[in-house]
Amino acid sequence: MSTKATLELDGKSYELPVVVGSEHEKAVDISQLRNLSGCITLDDGYGNTGSCSSAVTFIDGERGILRYRGIPIEELAEKSTFIETAYLLIYGRLPGRAELRRFSDMLTQNEMIHEDMKHHFEGFPPNAHPMAILSAMINASSCFYPGLMGAVNRERFDVHAARLLSQVRTIAAFSYRKSRGLPIIYPKPTYKYTANFLHMMFSNPFEDYELKPEVARALDLIFLLHADHEQNCSTSTVRMVASSQANLFASAAAGVCALWGPLHGGANQAVIEMLTQIHKEGDDGSKFIAAAKDKNSGKRLMGFGHRVYKNYDPRARIIKAACDSTLKALRISDPLLDIAKKLEEAALKDSYFVERKLYPNVDFYSGIIMRAIGIPTEMFTVIFAIGRMPGWIANFKEIMDDPKSRIYRPRQVYIGATQNPYVPLEERK
Ligand code: ACO
Repeated sequence: MSTKATLELDGKSYELPVVVGSEHEKAVDISQLRNLSGCITLDDGYGNTGSCSSAVTFIDGERGILRYRGIPIEELAEKSTFIETAYLLIYGRLPGRAELRRFSDMLTQNEMIHEDMKHHFEGFPPNAHPMAILSAMINASSCFYPGLMGAVNRERFDVHAARLLSQVRTIAAFSYRKSRGLPIIYPKPTYKYTANFLHMMFSNPFEDYELKPEVARALDLIFLLHADHEQNCSTSTVRMVASSQANLFASAAAGVCALWGPLHGGANQAVIEMLTQIHKEGDDGSKFIAAAKDKNSGKRLMGFGHRVYKNYDPRARIIKAACDSTLKALRISDPLLDIAKKLEEAALKDSYFVERKLYPNVDFYSGIIMRAIGIPTEMFTVIFAIGRMPGWIANFKEIMDDPKSRIYRPRQVYIGATQNPYVPLEERK
């Protein structure tokens, strides 16, 4: 296998090293290209750019493969829990029994947010989007843990990581309660991670939420399936912020902002809005599919397509099956599930989607499960953020642990005006 690539440029030849990953992926290392030739590479939207080397998650988008630390997502979905998977992602291996207990205990010990932070929730208007509250509150948490400030604190990493993973769920539930004008419900140390989140979301001061095991399991699976996805928009944002040695909470808050957009994590909310609209209009899906193919309509089939997967997203396959089993267990019949299945069937037969290799992604069916278990639509992307937290923490740790880590600073090709004089205000036309 060649270890060098040759680039011909302006009559000169440059040899560039080829880096090969553990799954035989090849990358031309252009880090010295500008020094050697004065030239940079250009790749709008980073579709063909490896921004780092990482040992966390492997994706083969052509074959529809996703593995966390080498373990196939299908096996984790079947055998693991969100918290065990979080440990795997952050620390690089499955925990032993004692390690898992210690990790779990740390999450419990750190589940309460600082009592003074409760007042911050009062400052948001009642209809504030919970993603805005989530990112603001995660960032504000930095103020309450002085050890987070300044240079990255390696010794306290375990505590900060557990605190963030545990409190993101507390903040998320408090945001929801606040947005509905409901009293805040404190976490219960006896509950496991996902059950505790459901308790904080749905219990009342006078009556505990009736916890159904199938509901807790379905939500835990959703968290697990979202736990990491290599260098997507939000994880790259987290790495970008972390590369400046900003603290873990500030880096994660930036990740929440990046996740919010409808082309990324916000797609799960957009899917339900799309399905609801189709249902309301009595469309069998064909009108919407036609609109999604028309570039002038401004519409896309939400929950379809992916930058990396050119095959069925393996997470979508698992979620689709979980959707069927959860709705059946809860005896719920949702017309949106029927519409989603019809849309999928029609799109997968349609040459527009086939030629562009557009398949359902993780967001296509996840919203239907969340609806079934009572999560309100505006919380869908927040659920994604809770799930993605281990991946963000693992990627932050990778940067922190790498002695050769450098600040992320891409270049650009400037296409603006060439040198111009400053024109005084009175002389401007
Ligand atoms: N509906 C209709 N057409 C689509 C869709 C879609 N959902 N997705 C892509 N296309 C078309 C594009 O119009 C483009 O067509 P063209 O070649 O004729 O111009 C072609 O497919 C390639 O699409 P790009 O936008 O170039 O693909 P990109 O990799 O930049 O975007 C993305 C990927 C953002 C996910 C896109 O497929 C999309 O907008 N999907 C809908 C939103 C969504 O579901 N996002 C969630 C992604 S998964 C996640 O973040 C968790």
